[in-house]
Amino acid sequence: MALILGIESSCDETAAAVVRDGFEVLSSEVASQIAKHAVHGGVVPELAAREHLKALTPVVGAALGTAGVTMADIDAVAVTQGPGLIPALLTGLNFAKGLAAGSGVPLIGANHFMAHIYGAFLDNGLEVLQDPHSYPLLALVVSGGHTSLLLVSADGSAHQLGCTIDDAAGEALDKGAKLLGLGYPGGPIMQRTAEGGDPERFDFPRPLTGAAGKALAPENRYNFTFSGIKTALLYHVRRESPSGEPLTGVMLKDTVASYQRAVVDVLVRKTLTAVKEFRPRTVVVAGGVACNAELRQLMAERMPKAISLRIAPPKYCTDNAAMVGGIGFHSFRRGEFAAPDMDSFARLPRFTRVPFIG
Ligand code: KG4
Ligand code: ZN
Repeated sequence: MALILGIESSCDETAAAVVRDGFEVLSSEVASQIAKHAVHGGVVPELAAREHLKALTPVVGAALGTAGVTMADIDAVAVTQGPGLIPALLTGLNFAKGLAAGSGVPLIGANHFMAHIYGAFLDNGLEVLQDPHSYPLLALVVSGGHTSLLLVSADGSAHQLGCTIDDAAGEALDKGAKLLGLGYPGGPIMQRTAEGGDPERFDFPRPLTGAAGKALAPENRYNFTFSGIKTALLYHVRRESPSGEPLTGVMLKDTVASYQRAVVDVLVRKTLTAVKEFRPRTVVVAGGVACNAELRQLMAERMPKAISLRIAPPKYCTDNAAMVGGIGFHSFRRGEFAAPDMDSFARLPRFTRVPFIG
C-alpha cells in the first residue's frame, strides 16, 4: 500500500491530492487563480508563481486534512515537473522538494501531459490499464497547451501520431473568446454562450482534415492547426460588425456555436481517422477541453460502438493533482525517484513510452 501526495502548479491552478495505490483518490483540492488572471485576459506567469506561493501551504494542508492523513502517513511526494510555465512550475517543485526532504520521503517528478491521460483512469481504471484487450489504446490530449494524438501499446510503448503545429484546441477557444470580448478562460464561456445557438449557421474552416477538398499532406494526417479558424473568426466579426461593436444576441450565439463546432469537429474527425487506420480497442480523451459537452457528445455519437470510449470525468480533465499523485505511484512502484537537483521543463520532451504501464 502506498499513499502519494500529488502537487500540481504548472499553470493557473494550485492543486494537491492524496492518492492510494495509483487509483483511489482520497482527496483532490484545487485552488483556482482564474479571477486574478481574468483581468489580464490570460495567464501571467509571474503572477501565477506568486499565487502558487500563497496557495501551496493551505491547499496541501487541505488535501492531507480531507484524506484524514498527515505527512507521517505519506510514502512519497509527486510533483509536476513540466511541461508548463516555468515560474509556476518552479514554485511547486521547490515546495515539493522541501516537503519531501523535511518529511524524509522520496520525491517523484511527474509529466503533466502524461498525467492528463492518466486522469481518465483514476478511481476505476486499474482493470482497463492491466487488460491486454484494452490495446492498442488511442489517446487524444486536448488542453490549453496540448492537442495531440498518441497510440499506446500493451507494453507501454507510445507513439505520437501528431500534434498541433500552432495553437492548442483550448488556446483556440480562449483566443476566440477574447476576440469576442467574452473573457477568460474561453473554453467554458464559449460552451455556455454556444448553448441554444446554431452550430451550422457559419461555416468556419476545418483545417488539415481534407474537408475543403484540398489534398492532405501525409505528414499532416494527424497534425492540427487552429490559427486559421481563429483568423476566420476575426474576418467574420469584422464582416458582421463593421462598426467594431461586440457581437450580441443570436448573432453572438450562432457565431460561438459554429466556432466551437469547427474546433470540435476537427478533433473528432482526426480521432476517427486514426481509429480507422490503427484499429484501437480503447480511445481516451483527456485534458481541459475534454470537459467540453459538445466534444463529449459528438465523440460518443460518432465513435464506432465496438470501441471502448473513455473520456476523463470533468473533475480530472482540467488541471488537478489527483492525476499527479496517481501517475506518481507508478514511478514509486518502480523505485524511480527524482534526484535532488531535479529541474522543471517548459516543453514536452520526446517520449517513447507512457510511464504508467510496465
Ligand atoms: O488541462 P487544462 O486545465 O490546463 C492545461 O494543461 O492547459 O486545460 C485548460 C484549457 C483551457 O484552454 C480552457 O479554456 C479549456 O481547457 N476548457 C474548456 C472547457 N473547460 C476548460 N474548453 C472547452 N469547454 C470546456 N467546458
Ligand atoms: Zn493541464
